[in-house]
Amino acid sequence: MTEIKKHQYDVLVVGAGGAGLRAAIEASASGLSVGMVCKSLLGKAHTVMAEGGVAASLGYVDDRDDWKVHFADTMRGGQYLNNWRMAELHAREAPECVLELEAWGALFDRTQDGRILQRNFGGHKYPRLAHVGDRTGLEMIRTLQDHGIHQGIKVHMECTVISLLKDGDRVVGALGYEREKGRFQLFECRAIVLATGGIGKAFKVTSNSWEYTGDGHALAYEAGAELTDMEFVQFHPTGMVWPPSVRGILVTEGVRGEGGILYNSERRRFMFDDIPDLYKDQTADNEEEGWRYTQGDKEARRPPELLTRDHVARCIVRQIKEGRGSPHDGVYLDIAWIKEKLPKAAQHIQKKLPSMYHQFKELAAIDITQEAMEVGPTTHYAMGGIRVDPDSQMSTLPGLFAAGECAAGLHGANRLGGNSLSDLLVFGKRSGKHAAEFAKENGFGQINNDQVEEVTRQALAPFERAGSSDGESPYQIQYDLQEMMQRQVGIVRNEEDLLDAVEEIGKLRERAGKAASPGNREYNPGWHAALDLPNLLTVSEAVAGSAVKRKESRGAQAREDFSEKDEAFSKVNVVSYKGSDGEMKIESREIPEMGADLKQIIEEMK
Ligand code: FUM
Repeated sequence: MTEIKKHQYDVLVVGAGGAGLRAAIEASASGLSVGMVCKSLLGKAHTVMAEGGVAASLGYVDDRDDWKVHFADTMRGGQYLNNWRMAELHAREAPECVLELEAWGALFDRTQDGRILQRNFGGHKYPRLAHVGDRTGLEMIRTLQDHGIHQGIKVHMECTVISLLKDGDRVVGALGYEREKGRFQLFECRAIVLATGGIGKAFKVTSNSWEYTGDGHALAYEAGAELTDMEFVQFHPTGMVWPPSVRGILVTEGVRGEGGILYNSERRRFMFDDIPDLYKDQTADNEEEGWRYTQGDKEARRPPELLTRDHVARCIVRQIKEGRGSPHDGVYLDIAWIKEKLPKAAQHIQKKLPSMYHQFKELAAIDITQEAMEVGPTTHYAMGGIRVDPDSQMSTLPGLFAAGECAAGLHGANRLGGNSLSDLLVFGKRSGKHAAEFAKENGFGQINNDQVEEVTRQALAPFERAGSSDGESPYQIQYDLQEMMQRQVGIVRNEEDLLDAVEEIGKLRERAGKAASPGNREYNPGWHAALDLPNLLTVSEAVAGSAVKRKESRGAQAREDFSEKDEAFSKVNVVSYKGSDGEMKIESREIPEMGADLKQIIEEMK
């Protein structure tokens, strides 16, 4: 048997972004030993890409806000496919989680009277996003990291988990490898929290960095847990489009929250053209009213640029497809125009959007205080993920918990901006608490050495194939997958493309079985890419397969062949692995009926 380094923790957290850190802090606060494994460096996480703010109904800028409005907004944004219990817990608990973070040292921007400042974001009825300029996720990670390292959490950086280990049905450990030396690491534990983030690297244009290959989704699925909502992939409306090397990098929704407008090559504000019925009551139909809303006029309605992301992304795509895009296949996002309205607008922009100012200055030679940006949609977030119990965050497997982007339910068919950061606080905390309780009630399980041996054998297979004539480059396979997913499973979908995509994924899986990595185990990115491939293929198949089953358009799923929402599909798709035949099973399930009290809130808010 190959040499393996062993570790033992009561609770193991896989992933060290906001959700993982928050889970680890909570588990360790209950006095247990906690290990945290991160694929990359501690603090380098997609959490920092939630730039514009964390959503919580503190009501500091508009005192009409409360958890009920936040709950109703989240459900409306998710087109009522959300797990309503998660939406309730999230809305109720987000404010205290933000205040807790502040007590730990997070420095939010302030109102004139010294309270946390909150900004407007798409789909949120009132200014709700507590923020730190446009670096909110970064400040949250910094705070959680500072707090976490003083709790005695043991961090394993640059370590990728490749399999969960089971004792019967229960998850009792994980096997990974460290990137630097390629040595295997075995983690024995009583409970595991997966907090591995998203799946963005299954697509060509994405705000996600290299780590986001659907690892947690695939680990859970392979171990027998259920996934849900996988068809719903969020394409953030505004990513950079030029120059090519930076395509996909996020341009925060905070730009639109601060008054930024979208226009096409004819200089027309096309977002006024199509306002969905669901949002007609909340959306301004003229420029003046939209601006007044941005400036805090409580009587005014939101500008159409602050409609939900699914809708804004589709409107942008339509402009580009119909020939009214910008030179590099985007549209224009303009915040500089506010100089017509505000004295000292340039200073205001630099203060509220410092990262965007530097990002465009340095990467695209654009001064956003003077000229418009070119932007287009970028794959940003997976609403789909591991199906969890709403209160405890335990998956369908005992001992396995999930939180943050790799868990599913809260956001339904579309996530509102800023709800990711509050999601990871609320459910990171809950998952850590419940994982710790589970660990206290259950001893260590039995590690199955045959399973460990089989996993290491498979993991080393790319080296065996290096000399073979049909060995393939893992990079080429990943590239082909990304191209295909972008083209066929992107913002606008149809049956033919989706069915073809499922077939293509099957072929890519065969090719992945031949992925070869020459060299040795010491820092070998080709080998790492080969090991990421099965995960990318699993999540891609779950996305495409679930999208085939949903023959309607709703939220982030837009079908050109079924362009309307259909009440018959007011259900969720659940993905599971049936093992023996290796087939992925996707079934649609009814959503449990919402309690009368929550129904009443939604009715009242309408
Ligand atoms: O646009 C943004 O700042 C992203 C926020 C989010 O995804 O929640």
